[in-house]
Amino acid sequence: DTAAIPHPRWRLPVLGDVLGINIRTPLQNSMEIGKTLGPIFERDVLGNRFVFASGADMVAELSDESRFAKHLAPGVASLRELGGDGLFTAYNHEPNWSKAHNLLAPAFTKSAMRSYHRTMLDVAGELTEYWDRRTDGTPVDVSSDMTKLTLETIGRTGFSYSFDSFERSRPHPFVQAMVGALSHSQRTTFVKTSALGRLLTRRADRRNARNLEYLAEVVDEVIRARRGSGDTGPEDLLELMLRAAREDHPDKIDELNIRHQVVTFLVAGHETTSGALSFALYYLSRHPEVLAKARAEVDEVWGQETPEFEQIAKLRYVRRVLDESLRLWPTAPAYGREATVDTTLVGKYPMKVGDWVLVLIPALHRDPVWGDDPEAFDPDNFLPERIRSRPAHVYKPFGTGERACIGRQFAVHEAVLVLGTILRRYDIVGDPDYQLKIAERLTLMPEGFTLQLRCR
Ligand code: HEM
Repeated sequence: DTAAIPHPRWRLPVLGDVLGINIRTPLQNSMEIGKTLGPIFERDVLGNRFVFASGADMVAELSDESRFAKHLAPGVASLRELGGDGLFTAYNHEPNWSKAHNLLAPAFTKSAMRSYHRTMLDVAGELTEYWDRRTDGTPVDVSSDMTKLTLETIGRTGFSYSFDSFERSRPHPFVQAMVGALSHSQRTTFVKTSALGRLLTRRADRRNARNLEYLAEVVDEVIRARRGSGDTGPEDLLELMLRAAREDHPDKIDELNIRHQVVTFLVAGHETTSGALSFALYYLSRHPEVLAKARAEVDEVWGQETPEFEQIAKLRYVRRVLDESLRLWPTAPAYGREATVDTTLVGKYPMKVGDWVLVLIPALHRDPVWGDDPEAFDPDNFLPERIRSRPAHVYKPFGTGERACIGRQFAVHEAVLVLGTILRRYDIVGDPDYQLKIAERLTLMPEGFTLQLRCR
């Protein structure tokens, strides 16, 4: 038997389900609505229909690649202004997706990770140098500093380009332009399809155009810096793409697509990892027993030595802290899935080819399979025996299937390395009055979260 998809009770003509809508925090707003409507529900905004799914059984089916594939939800589709047919924003059928995927896959193997290790340590060293000067009680802005670190890491490992993040008092203007572009995409998602909406966003569109222009200039500068340095550069993402073009490789991509890949990696490669690190530090500062255990592990596994590549993955408990932080707040909090055949979701909700839903990841991560108190922060949720006791497909911070995150191992290696470095060096003290507040700009980020540092 088929069932109707629930929707909010007060549905207005034309405007739809706009009562109680919050355009600054649409994700948290949808989680709130889901609490009463359940694991699948619909929101109609100005005639745009959004279906959100988060039930473990539903997401398991949506992960079946023989029936479903990635869908570019409106908030992501509007990012094509920035990323074009780059990896993240490419439609499944676009030839540049498989070309770039094949071309860049070697940059995400274990041996590639090994080659980034040194640079990741260097950047973590710059963070501690920067933080050492702030151990006098001045609180540090965690998200801002984690963003310096992750932007620097992807710039140098991927493109051998430094943003000089730790030499600046303010964030690199790339960050502000990117945040502007992401926020713009999010805010205009609901309104863009109506004429009235387009009128309302005209000024913001002009500001956005300036941000996009600036981001394109940075990308040009990154490529120019490489070209100026002679023909072959260091083995990095950019070199893989430029070399394929030079050598007329069957998977070579053209100049415009290379630029789309560069901006894609600069954005996707740092914003979400920065949020993940910030949430992890937030939870560590709130859970002294977890912090003590994590630090004891770092002291035992690393001692006072500079950690080797293999010693990062040995921080099993720190890894569980990261996994658990990404359970509660997956920093890329939703992804779209569309039916590739006529089908019925969990035997109840018919879907025609092209029909799509958004997987609401934080709600999936609070499904009853996660136990009686899914809001509680508990790294032991990721003990191997607990993982085995849960069904598959209930943990999706990196998406699913062929279009899942290519940078997952990169992000995990970087984040565990950095958390270990911080825990070993500092006592971290959060502001006891701070209430977790989450900013949304397609991604999630703790807002206004500070730490006081003391060298141990
Ligand atoms: C795709 C999350 C770090 C590059 C994705 C997707 C998710 C995700 C959910 C799938 C989106 C969809 O289905 O529409 C995350 C999180 C990260 C992270 C939570 C950190 C904690 C990274 C890093 C890089 C990266 C470090 C690059 C170095 C990409 C790219 C794609 C992607 C290129 C598109 C892949 C494709 O469609 O072929 N990521 N990501 N991500 N991510 Fe990540």
